[in-house]
Amino acid sequence: MTPVSTEVWEPAPLGPLTLRNRVIKAATFEGVMPHGRVTPELIDFHGEVARGGAAMTTVAYCAVSPGGRVHRHTLVLDDRTGRDLRHLTDTVHAEGALACAQIGHAGLVANQVSNRARSLAPSARISAPAMGPVRAATRAQLEQVAREFERAARVAVDAGFDAVEVHLGHNYLLSSFLSPNLNRRKDIYGGSVVNRSLFPREVLGRVRGAVGGSVAVTAKFNMADGVPKGLWLDQSLQIARLIESDGCVDALQLTGGSSLLNGMYYFRGDVPLAEFIAAQPKPVGWGLRVYGPHIFPTYPFEEAFFRPFARQFREALTLPLIMLGGINRADTIRTALDDGFEFVGMARALLRDPYLPRKLREEGVAEGLCIHCNKCLPTIYSGTRCVVREALWENSRH
Ligand SMILES: Cc1cc2nc3c(=O)[nH]c(=O)nc-3n(C[C@H](O)[C@H](O)[C@H](O)COP(=O)(O)O)c2cc1C
Ligand code: SF4
Repeated sequence: MTPVSTEVWEPAPLGPLTLRNRVIKAATFEGVMPHGRVTPELIDFHGEVARGGAAMTTVAYCAVSPGGRVHRHTLVLDDRTGRDLRHLTDTVHAEGALACAQIGHAGLVANQVSNRARSLAPSARISAPAMGPVRAATRAQLEQVAREFERAARVAVDAGFDAVEVHLGHNYLLSSFLSPNLNRRKDIYGGSVVNRSLFPREVLGRVRGAVGGSVAVTAKFNMADGVPKGLWLDQSLQIARLIESDGCVDALQLTGGSSLLNGMYYFRGDVPLAEFIAAQPKPVGWGLRVYGPHIFPTYPFEEAFFRPFARQFREALTLPLIMLGGINRADTIRTALDDGFEFVGMARALLRDPYLPRKLREEGVAEGLCIHCNKCLPTIYSGTRCVVREALWENSRH
């Protein structure tokens, strides 16, 4: 057997796929799907990432149902969007890259008022992002959600996606089942670590069953929620081992944090509170003025900030792993491979410059130009973009 190269810029296997290199563009909700429509802007966004040299780009966030959207301008993976997404996957493929669809249900993070649909949680709870109380899902509703995941995954495959990334992070629905503070169920889906992992693992199995072996199935997985009494490595390592032994996923992408309770944990860097307030309707903005500093505590940015956590997973698992979080530099990618990670995920570095992979590979550039100001975060409401890159364009036009 030919040994697999550990070179950053050489092809590498991910399940049934061969990626042209080790760099995956991680999910960044693109904010250009008005009422869930696939737009030319969405296609251009991913076309540019593909041209820039990443091996695979991740379309985010694709809800499995209307109630699972973050808000009404979120894409639902159904037959209509599936047909339109074919243009996106064709564009990405024409540039030599692969396309991944991040599929999920937002759970406690789904804005029920905007969606005009009720969301679901493992246990009943008031949620600020959901704009009110969210009900505990019944067993019948969970079965329905599992079916929606199956359908969404099938639609993604029919639309030409090469991979499906199931969202098991950031306290979205599946992630909230794993969290002891959010899952207080008394049935088989609550209680012990094994029980809390059952529903998310069932969904992973159903997604794999729905798509078969010809596409990659990955999961974006929370190592730690970053909140008191939330999921922490003592339990997430056990869950990751269970997922590995189920044999349904080709890789885990390692993340952390909670869009419900600790929004900056998986970003680090500056908190753009003023920009967040400006991007919200007035009443939400007033709430953010009061509660913002609690919801968005400051964490200083560090290169590869999740590496110490991720290395625990590398030690515990043989499953391929995608290291994510604060990766900006060529030497960090090299170190990740030396640590035994198969791939790296990059989000903000590629928002700042989608052509960074090419520059790292062909021009000997050592690092990207993202300054971790996080001012791209509030742009998810108006078309996700790097404000620094945008300012440079504006200047060059005058
Ligand atoms: C503007 C923006 C939008 C994001 N949207 C999503 C999303 O829809 N789904 C998701 O799992 N992560 C999302 N993320 C998180 C990234 O995938 C990634 O976990 C995080 O930015 C840390 O990686 P980085 O340091 O390479 O940016 C988003 C990040 C940014 C900056
Ligand atoms: S706005 Fe640009 S520079 Fe600032 S964090 Fe986002 S990608 Fe980086």
